[in-house]
Amino acid sequence: MTGLFIDGGVPLFGSVAASGAKNAALPLLAASLMMNGSSTLTNVPHLMDVFTMLKMLNALGVRAEMQPGNRVVINNTKKVKHIAPYDLVTAMRASFFVAGPLVAKTGFAKVPLPGGCSIGSRPIDIHLKGFERLGIQHSIEHGFVELKVKSLRGNSVHLEFPSVGATENVMMAACLAEGTTVIENAAREPEITDLANFLNKAGAKIIGHGSACITIQGVAELNGTDHPVVSDRIEAGSLLIAGAITGGEVTVTNCVPEHSAPMLEKMREAGLVIGIGPDWMSVKAEGRYTGIDFETLPFPGFPTDMQAQMMALLTVANGTSIIKESIFENRFMHAHELMRMGAKIKLDNRHAVISGVPKLAGAEVKITDLRAGAALILAGLVADGRSNIYGLKHLRRGYDDLPGKLRSIGARITD
Ligand code: UD1
Repeated sequence: MTGLFIDGGVPLFGSVAASGAKNAALPLLAASLMMNGSSTLTNVPHLMDVFTMLKMLNALGVRAEMQPGNRVVINNTKKVKHIAPYDLVTAMRASFFVAGPLVAKTGFAKVPLPGGCSIGSRPIDIHLKGFERLGIQHSIEHGFVELKVKSLRGNSVHLEFPSVGATENVMMAACLAEGTTVIENAAREPEITDLANFLNKAGAKIIGHGSACITIQGVAELNGTDHPVVSDRIEAGSLLIAGAITGGEVTVTNCVPEHSAPMLEKMREAGLVIGIGPDWMSVKAEGRYTGIDFETLPFPGFPTDMQAQMMALLTVANGTSIIKESIFENRFMHAHELMRMGAKIKLDNRHAVISGVPKLAGAEVKITDLRAGAALILAGLVADGRSNIYGLKHLRRGYDDLPGKLRSIGARITD
């Protein structure tokens, strides 16, 4: 079994750069399906999920390849195919991002149902209801969603929940609709703003992104363009917590502190010393920080993708913390592994109560999902003795060389 071996108890010091965001790169790549000619994305992270999306684009008839320097070049000159391969959609739920661009561009798309995943059931009903408002009909048969549209028309779309994926899928499709679409109760995550900026450079007419009301005036075509992927606020946050949990002092560069504001606020509340600049943020731990309470919410609330890492931080805080996970119904699996390292956590449905302990103990633990992987590594960094962390495939889906980045600021990690 391949694993990571961490010798904990070493404070981390230094500066480390964040990569481009997974959750921005994936929809940006999907959006390139709608753009004629050539597009170049820079600051693209090297991740399994990005490589899965590149395979998806190639399977659909678009030439897309990762080149040196974190650059992806996409050539969309041939007729795009309609059917997304089963193995790629089941490997990565975000493959469903191709649905909106494909049906908008060609009038027809057949995409396997993405199914659930370990953190929750994750249905696509909000995507489909949004599509319906644009005149896109769907049927679900033999495990595939078939989407058809004769005439794509702009309309008002009220999302019953600000789903990130549904906002992105509907926003992309609406770019090529006739007339104006207004998405109400839209998700406001920075990755949606990044996608809207890319689409606008390609000729789309989108305003209001970053707010709960996005207006899209349809255009006849989109043309390839260049765009740098926004920095990964979740990776940046994970690196900052590595500095805090080990009692060190770490600066994360190439990031947008504003995007991490909900997390920084909570870290300050815990008594950590936070610094920010235009494209960097830093943390310094002065003694033992205190427990805090938080609830995961859509942006600008506390991100569910930082919940596991924050839980790791709170396992060794002074006092008790309460976490409410409001986005996904099964996102506490890391808690069981943290308890194997000596953490004191009680789970009750959507709540976790963490009683801080002075020390964790190195143990053999298994990664259950992407962000759980980061949480266990963070716990390993502060635990006494050696931790063996298994299940790295989950980590590689969404972190671009996290062990290497941590080593660069002093962590003792081998693989
Ligand atoms: C995206 C992120 C993921 C993050 C999540 C929430 C990407 C590639 N992934 O996932 O990292 O954890 O946002 O910030 O950007 N839901 C429905 N019906 C739908 C769609 C969603 O019930 O049609 C529910 C989901 O089951 C979940 C909640 O809404 O409980 C949030 O999901 P959503 O915002 O859509 O997350 P994703 O776009 O899948």
